Amino acid sequence: MPHPPIKAVIPAAGLGTRFLPATKAMPKEMLPVVDKPAIQYVVEEAAQAGIDDILVIIGRNKNAISNHFDSVPELEEKLKDKGDTDRLRRVLESSDLADIHFVRQGEPKGLGHAVLRAKAHVGDSSFAVMLGDDLIDERDELLTTMIEEHRRTGAAVIALMEVPQTHIHLYGVASAEPTEHDGIVKVNGLVEKPSAEDAPSNLAIIGRYVLSPAVFDILERTEPGKGGEIQLTDALQELAADPDGPGVYGVVFRGRRYDTGDRVDYIKAIVQLAVDREDLGPDLRPWFKDFAANL
Ligand code: G1P
Repeated sequence: MPHPPIKAVIPAAGLGTRFLPATKAMPKEMLPVVDKPAIQYVVEEAAQAGIDDILVIIGRNKNAISNHFDSVPELEEKLKDKGDTDRLRRVLESSDLADIHFVRQGEPKGLGHAVLRAKAHVGDSSFAVMLGDDLIDERDELLTTMIEEHRRTGAAVIALMEVPQTHIHLYGVASAEPTEHDGIVKVNGLVEKPSAEDAPSNLAIIGRYVLSPAVFDILERTEPGKGGEIQLTDALQELAADPDGPGVYGVVFRGRRYDTGDRVDYIKAIVQLAVDREDLGPDLRPWFKDFAANL
């Protein structure tokens, strides 16, 4: 029997305060990373893994996101008339990626609360949660492996990555043990943003999760945790601690991940992605070398 399709949920209701004033009238998910808004990379990653139904959880200023994934007939006509097929292709690409739906979060009560807003749309199917601050290089595989692992085990599957001790307080952190499968760990416990001293390991949750709808029942009764917010990590900890359930597994990612969550990392992400691009890299690389030599 074919597996029922997996939907994706992209929380995009954060206030983006770290990028003010750029995010005063525009969601941070629309900030360009080279020449595409950050959220388009995430939608492309979902589409690449075969997901064609995406729910975006939005806050204020939602229009920019929905307009971006909609078609713009006047612009398309103009580019067609000019014979600008390359730009036309790029414009069409963003509206043809997937079937994109929107729901409002209402009050910003945390990631767990945002995910709970997806309950009605997700229904009985498994779903992926994809956070827009983490961009995964399209040349490196992650989501497909996570979906396979979820189907094999029936468990919640999270993406983990080793991070330096100095950064561990920014993440949900897992205590985990190896399995017989290379790169897959069994998660025994999770803690949201611990101090470096209290962190159970250096394995941080990077923003990809493949979950079954059972998590909604837990989220409904999850009390506010770290920062007074309802944390997805706390709900997953409950799944990990349940001796009768399928538990939680982690896929340890060793590929290229770009963090766009704060200004320095955002600038690094743009530089890393741009120098690798065929159309921009050849001009940028020598310039960067020169620039760095004179710093
Ligand atoms: C969220 C999660 C955290 C996870 C992180 C990944 O935190 O709560 O567990 O490690 O995303 O980016 P945020 O960065 O939204 O504060």
